[in-house]
Amino acid sequence: MNIILLGPPGAGKGTQARHLVETRNMVQLSTGDMLREAKDSGTEMGNMVADVMARGDLVTDEIVIGLIREKLEDTTEHGGFIFDGFPRTLAQATALDELLKATGKTLDHVIELRVNDDALVKRIAGRSTCGNCGEVYHDVTKPQPADGKCSKCGASDFKRRADDNEESLRNRLMEYYKKTSPLLGYYYAHDLLKRVDGLADINVVQASIEAILDA
Ligand code: AP5
Repeated sequence: MNIILLGPPGAGKGTQARHLVETRNMVQLSTGDMLREAKDSGTEMGNMVADVMARGDLVTDEIVIGLIREKLEDTTEHGGFIFDGFPRTLAQATALDELLKATGKTLDHVIELRVNDDALVKRIAGRSTCGNCGEVYHDVTKPQPADGKCSKCGASDFKRRADDNEESLRNRLMEYYKKTSPLLGYYYAHDLLKRVDGLADINVVQASIEAILDA
């Protein structure tokens, strides 16, 4: 089963994708994580996108489509792909259709996580991640363990993202409304769109997504 998790910055796409990786052996394809990895390892492409990401602008379609193309060739046995943060433009959505077709795959669901802007700001402001395994925490809703060690891997290296600041978030939201939200209509027209209340507790959101996958 192949799905897209669609929603604005901070909607909970990464949090939910990680859960599905653990419970259903799915493969998370997060273009944000791929770009951050390239940036941290100082590749030519990583250096090229660093400023764009820090400002909260979108990286070019060509770069992100190239990243996804490489990953779709993964032939190991798994429970399907979760597209997290991709596609973000209509050009990316049509490229994904073609890539899936070329590899004999189909898209089963596009799940929109619906969250209002006030909640997004609070979520982004409180977010931290484990620098070792990527587990996502929140100062209020999912605090880092009191012993200072990640509950998943035991590392003590927590990070905050460079683009999790007010100015960049404003820009990320604007990019979402201008360039990504039209995808809701695109996938509705393809009869793939499902909607989930992303404001509910993390476990409730998980259960809603699982109900869609099991229907
Ligand atoms: P990316 O990494 O994709 O960031 P994003 O879309 O802005 O999304 P986030 O990772 O910020 O949020 P999320 O929805 O995953 O939320 P999370 O689960 O962490 O992209 C970063 C940048 O890369 C872009 O700005 C762009 O420059 C570039 N880029 C990436 N893909 C691209 C593409 N396809 N095309 C062009 N450019 C691209 O949750 C957030 C917080 O809320 C956490 O602290 C979490 O614990 C908490 N939380 C989650 N769910 C709940 C809940 N139900 N209740 C309470 N708290 C919750």
